Amino acid sequence: KETEDQLIIDAGQKHFGTTVCKSCGMIYTASNPEDELQHVRHHHRFLEGIKYTGWKKERVVAEFWDGKIVLVLPHDPSYAIRKVEDVQELVDNELGFHQVVPRCPNKTKTFLFISDDKKVVGCLIAEPIKQAFRVLSEPTGPESASSKECHRAWQCSDVPQPAVCGISRIWVFRLKRRKRIARRLVDTLRNRFMFGCFLRTDEIAFSDPTPDGKLFATKYCNT
Ligand code: ACO
Ligand code: ZN
Repeated sequence: KETEDQLIIDAGQKHFGTTVCKSCGMIYTASNPEDELQHVRHHHRFLEGIKYTGWKKERVVAEFWDGKIVLVLPHDPSYAIRKVEDVQELVDNELGFHQVVPRCPNKTKTFLFISDDKKVVGCLIAEPIKQAFRVLSEPTGPESASSKECHRAWQCSDVPQPAVCGISRIWVFRLKRRKRIARRLVDTLRNRFMFGCFLRTDEIAFSDPTPDGKLFATKYCNT
């Protein structure tokens, strides 16, 4: 009995100082200066967005009335790569991902949606893949409530399907959602991923989708 109590107290102390920021959602240790610094950076970017002032050499691959899409490739100048890293850090913090190293870093294509007020408001990171596992449709009935809670445990088919392009990240700035920015990013990706062809929706795959990601992907692939 005594040892049990002791264990509980120990577990509590390990979590001592863990804070969840009410505005940006980041979980960090307030007593750890490095963590705190990372939080301050994330907090600011989460609320303000990431500025994009324009580059001398930029690859504009689509233009719209409310912005444009810029493509960044692995061997682009360091200012472009640094911008992509900043955006990816924001996205990963928001998604709770921890530094996932891309399988073929020299084949990654990053599409940034730049708003007309010069901010990066959307990001899509894609890489070539050979196969994917289709997410099976969600169970219906009483079970579906629990599937909402463990939100990343989608049931996947164990039969691999051929695919060409994997979307490892798709993200839109929180204040700009539901304005078809994600849709336009995927349209542009399908057009630009392989030279001279427009990818079908069954040739692209979303990796480890979040609930938002899954709702978007389902809608996008059916229309
Ligand atoms: N709930 C329900 N339907 C949705 C949602 C949602 N949250 N998001 C998109 N859709 C559907 C809608 O039908 C929408 O059309 P409508 O607005 O005309 O009804 C359609 O998808 C197209 O949506 P867009 O406006 O193009 O999507 P948006 O620009 O808002 O971006 C995204 C969607 C990227 C999922 C955004 O919500 C986001 O950044 N979320 C947080 C980050 C995230 O979870 N990203 C996915 C991670 S998975 C991965 O990276 C592989
Ligand atoms: Zn915060």
